[in-house]
Amino acid sequence: MSKLFSPIDLRGVRLRNRIVIPPMHQYAADQGHVSDWTMMNAGRFAAGGPGLFFVESTKVERRGAGTVGDLGLWDDKFIPGMTRLADFIRHCGAVPGIQLGHSGRKAKRFRPWEGGQALTGPDSEDPSWRIIGPSAIAQGNGYETPEALDTAGVRTVIANWIAAADRARKAGFEVLEIHGAHGYLVNQFLSDVTNQRSDEYGGSFENRTRFLCEIIEGVRKIWPDDKPLFVRLSVEDHANWTVADSIALSKRLADLGVDVIDCSSGGIGRSAGGSPLELGYQVPYAAALRRDAGIKTMAVGLIIDPAHAEQILEAGDADLIAVGREAQNDPNWPFHAAVALGEESPFDLLPDQQRHWLANRAKRGWR
Ligand SMILES: Cc1cc2nc3c(=O)[nH]c(=O)nc-3n(C[C@H](O)[C@H](O)[C@H](O)COP(=O)(O)O)c2cc1C
Repeated sequence: MSKLFSPIDLRGVRLRNRIVIPPMHQYAADQGHVSDWTMMNAGRFAAGGPGLFFVESTKVERRGAGTVGDLGLWDDKFIPGMTRLADFIRHCGAVPGIQLGHSGRKAKRFRPWEGGQALTGPDSEDPSWRIIGPSAIAQGNGYETPEALDTAGVRTVIANWIAAADRARKAGFEVLEIHGAHGYLVNQFLSDVTNQRSDEYGGSFENRTRFLCEIIEGVRKIWPDDKPLFVRLSVEDHANWTVADSIALSKRLADLGVDVIDCSSGGIGRSAGGSPLELGYQVPYAAALRRDAGIKTMAVGLIIDPAHAEQILEAGDADLIAVGREAQNDPNWPFHAAVALGEESPFDLLPDQQRHWLANRAKRGWR
C-alpha cells in the first residue's frame, strides 16, 4: 500500500487516506446559510475519495465576511444547514472538516470574478458591516481603512471565534481548522506590518501571537479531546513574517493542542508562490515545520501528480497532502490517484452508486 493511501489517526478520527480537499471559497452562501451550491460542491469532492474534505473559510463574525456570499457560523441559526452539510460529506465517504475564518481588513469586497475590489452599492451600506483590524491600516487598492479594535474588542472577537467553533462541534464536524494565513485577521495580528498595537496584542512576537494562542486555548476547551485541530499559517507571509517565526509559533501551538499545521504562504506581502508557479511550491514549508517544530504538517500548493504526492510523504516532508485546484479539475482525483499508484481496491473509495458500475466495467477490461 502506498503512503498516500495509508490511513492516519488524528486523535480519535481516522482518515482513510492522506488526501485532503483544502478549504476553497465558493462565495455561494445565501445570507451566510448553506446553499444548494454549497451542498453540490461538497458532494462532488467528498464522493471522489479523499480522506478529509474541508468546508471553505466560514466566518465567525458577520463583519469578517469577505463577500456577501461567505458562509457563516456567527449565529445559532446556521447550525441546521451546517449539520446537513457535515452529514452529507460523511455520507459521501469523507470526514467532514471546516475552516473558520475572519477577513479583518480584507473583508467586504466583491467576489473575485466580480472584480474583487472593495464592496460598494446597497450591501456595502449595511451600518453593521464596519471592517476591523488590529490597527487602522488599510490593505490598499481601494479597501476601506479598518477600525482598530480596542482591547475589549479583541477579546470579543476571540470569544466569537470560540462560539463559532462550538457551533461547528454541534453541527457534527470532526476536524476544525483555524485560518491563520493569507493576510486575514489572524495573520494581520501576527504581522508587524499590519499590527502596530501598543497593548498586550501588539509589539513583541509573544504579544502578536497572543490573539491566535488565546483563540486556540479557548477552542481547545470546547473542541472535543478526540477531535483534531488544524491551523493554517502563511509560513512566510512575504512581508516580515519568516519560517523561523512559524517554527517558534508552531511549537507553542502544539503545546496548546494543535495537531496539524496546514502550510501555506503569502497575503500580507505578495500572494503565494512565484510566477510561473512551481509544482509543490509550498512543500518546503511543510518539511521545515515538520522537521523543526515537531508537528504534523499538511502540504498544499500545486500538487497535481499522484507520484509527486507519494514522494512528498515518502521523503517525510508532510503527513497530509491537500489537492485544491487539481481536484476542481478532477473531483475524482483521489480515485484516479489510487488507480495510478496501483492500489488494490481503488473502487472502494467511491460511493456505492458509482463503485458498482465502474468496478464491473473494469472487470470487463475498461478503466
Ligand atoms: C477557489 C478557491 C478558493 C479558496 N478559498 C480558500 C479558503 O476558503 N481558505 C483558505 O485557507 N484557502 C483558500 N484557497 C486556497 C486553497 O486552499 C489552496 O491553498 C490553494 O488553492 C493552493 O492549492 P492548489 O494548488 O492545490 O489549489 C482557495 C483557493 C481557491 C482556488
